[in-house]
Amino acid sequence: MTQHWNAIRKHWQLLGPPLRPPAEAVETYNRELDLSGAHVVLLGVTPELAGLGATMMAVDESADMIAGIWPGDTASRNAVNGDWLDLPAPGASVDAVIGDGCLSVLGLSAARRGLFAAIARVLRIGGRAGVRLFAGPETPDDPQAVRALALSGGVSTFHELKWRVAVTATGEAPDHAIPVKRIVEAFDALFPDRKELSASTGWDLPVIGTIDVYRNSSVIYSFAPAATLIREAQAFFGDVRTVSTGSYGFAERCPLLVMREPRG
Ligand SMILES: C[S@@+](CC[C@H](N)C(=O)[O-])C[C@H]1O[C@@H](n2cnc3c(N)ncnc32)[C@H](O)[C@@H]1O
Repeated sequence: MTQHWNAIRKHWQLLGPPLRPPAEAVETYNRELDLSGAHVVLLGVTPELAGLGATMMAVDESADMIAGIWPGDTASRNAVNGDWLDLPAPGASVDAVIGDGCLSVLGLSAARRGLFAAIARVLRIGGRAGVRLFAGPETPDDPQAVRALALSGGVSTFHELKWRVAVTATGEAPDHAIPVKRIVEAFDALFPDRKELSASTGWDLPVIGTIDVYRNSSVIYSFAPAATLIREAQAFFGDVRTVSTGSYGFAERCPLLVMREPRG
């Protein structure tokens, strides 16, 4: 897992929305979770989220990601090496837990349940959590429609295309899980000519090449539909809903999953 993220870290600056949260998505966390006076636990080291809250502890299992991506510890925030499923915080001690795309990087529903349980445990009464989703469709998209959309200029960034290919390749797989290397195989099958894709979209070849790090990865992602994730979260929280994170490309598949009333 950490090898996978270290490879991605090396081209982090080439990534963009929807993989990285745009300003309107960051504002959604702040507004929906009322973070200004909050002690926050951040799942991962997503730099765009590092300025939220009054105080923050970021938790990431990859020392390379902390060293390479985290904007740095200050008097009010720090990053620690740790596992989200075993959060290094006492029970009922945290105002808010936030994270970006975390449920998709946990490949299996058992791990998602482990994360919901860990979040519910550390939240105090009145605590709340928000995780931006990368959600799959209720019924699978047609791969050829994805290809046609991209070549006609209907996809906002290469990273949106990467996720459209990923959710399409996931289809109706058990647990909505997909080995990351299958995403690049599906991309190669749909877009064998990268120069054609670059010419019709204006995307630079090095940006398109960011998908190649998936080729040697042993990691499994998942793209469960939002309704499935809401159902899974409801076992751990009394109040679960999704909120739009804006109007950027693919935003309709990237709502914020907001969880309140932990059953911890
Ligand atoms: C926040 S997630 C998603 C980031 C981004 N939005 C994307 O999809 O490219 C990425 C981070 O999660 C971390 N991570 C994944 N699983 C973890 C776990 N079980 N415990 C701690 N960190 C984990 C990785 O090391 C990585 O830094």
